[in-house]
Amino acid sequence: MQIVIIGSGNVSYHIAKAFTLKSIPLAQIFGRNERELSKISEELNIPYSTEHLKEADLYIICVSDNSVEEVSKSITKKGCLVAHTSGSLPKEALSGEYRKASFYPLQTFSKSKDLEYEKIPFFVEAENEGDRKILIGLASQISEKVMESSHEKRKYIHLTAVFACNFVNHLFSRAKEISDSQDIPFDYFLPLIDETVQKIYEIEPKQAQTGPAVRNDVRILQLHEQLLKDESLEIYKTMNHSIQEMYEL
Ligand SMILES: NC(=O)c1ccc[n+]([C@@H]2O[C@H](COP(=O)([O-])OP(=O)(O)OC[C@H]3O[C@@H](n4cnc5c(N)ncnc54)[C@H](OP(=O)(O)O)[C@@H]3O)[C@@H](O)[C@H]2O)c1
Repeated sequence: MQIVIIGSGNVSYHIAKAFTLKSIPLAQIFGRNERELSKISEELNIPYSTEHLKEADLYIICVSDNSVEEVSKSITKKGCLVAHTSGSLPKEALSGEYRKASFYPLQTFSKSKDLEYEKIPFFVEAENEGDRKILIGLASQISEKVMESSHEKRKYIHLTAVFACNFVNHLFSRAKEISDSQDIPFDYFLPLIDETVQKIYEIEPKQAQTGPAVRNDVRILQLHEQLLKDESLEIYKTMNHSIQEMYEL
């Protein structure tokens, strides 16, 4: 099967690398960013182009959600299989006379960070049983956890991921702003962060909650508010409100 990956960002790079490590040949990596394409091409030994999209049986579109529809129109081969990697877009966001699908990896991808691909859950949706089998078979070569998922369910999987990953990471950024402002090395907090994550392997997040809000330590909450301003103060108040609402305090 001839496979082409479209895009040269984080997901394109990691999907191309995962396939390459499992000796799944890629016919081309295609996109608009020559610098990034050439880097991926050189590292993984895959031909690339910014101009001529190769004829293929399967195209995997890994571009920003806003551009999926526009980019999908550049695939003119009729009857082929085209999948996007978005968590929230329906497969119908793809626009062309081909079979449409979704191939969503539930992980946070950054080019500079290696990943254990076999642990990444993949969620697949397709128009028919044959295409589902193709995509599940492909994903199963790189991951041990491949599932079928409707768009209805996938939207909520992505939304959960935004809370569990993107928001948590943003809080790390805000936390680092505070520690940097006082010349406190952020390294000090890494064991705490590790333990916070490790704990939820064993106990429910709701049972794992600690801190002044769940203890309703009003004086500490007021003290912290005096140390903060602007966005971080708003986040602090919103998070405490959310914690206290959950525990009915
Ligand atoms: N990152 C994650 O953790 C993650 C996880 C699961 C799923 N996803 C999904 O995977 C997809 C790609 O995400 P990503 O994180 O890889 O994004 P990214 O790193 O920001 O890369 C986006 C890619 O899209 C290209 N692009 C954007 N607009 C384009 C256009 N109009 N024409 C051609 N190329 C265009 C960009 O090219 P330029 O470099 O030229 O801008 C770049 O190669 C998205 O649907 C996202 O929701 C992401």
